[in-house]
Amino acid sequence: MKLIQKLALILLGAAAPALVGTGVMRAADDEVDAATKAKIAQFDKGPSTIDVSAYPAGIQKDYAVFHEKCALCHTLARPVNSDFALPDEWSRYIKRMMHKPGSMISSVQAKKIYDFLVYDSSVRKKAMFEEKLAAATPADKAEAEAKLNELLQAYAQK
Ligand code: HEC
Repeated sequence: MKLIQKLALILLGAAAPALVGTGVMRAADDEVDAATKAKIAQFDKGPSTIDVSAYPAGIQKDYAVFHEKCALCHTLARPVNSDFALPDEWSRYIKRMMHKPGSMISSVQAKKIYDFLVYDSSVRKKAMFEEKLAAATPADKAEAEAKLNELLQAYAQK
């Protein structure tokens, strides 16, 4: 790392608490609470692969990107067993992972990972997916369904 980058990081580190105080930077960006940590430890102990043999061909290709990019810092078991399912939950989280230092995920790759995770959640975690839809507001539910349908149509043509 170049000296100037190091200095920038040090400055950022010093400024972060002040920014958190003003709400400019969310504290949650770097820290997760104890309950989340415990939950994540459970995810990590589960299976670390998904049988995608019955998935559409394009989704199977996306799985390779997911496999490559999302097992760099933690086991793939973490996202595989995650309790995220809805499109918005995944897009928010993939963005969070993209912003972690060293993640090196391009926006094209992020879209493929998103498509994979949304499709996979709607099939492999169908019960959870539907439970979350049922608990959502009518507007959020309609939006999530529209996103899934758009994705299904796109992949039916691939
Ligand atoms: C640069 C390192 C890095 C990469 C790459 C990365 N993660 Fe993570 N991931 C983390 C860290 C650190 C945590 C611990 C919680 C946090 O800081 O958000 C985490 C936690 C998670 C969690 C658990 C969150 C929760 O609250 O239940 C999921 C799910 C997850 N990652 C999915 C992904 C996916 C999907 C990808 C690929 C797009 C990915 N990760 C790539 C570093 C990374």
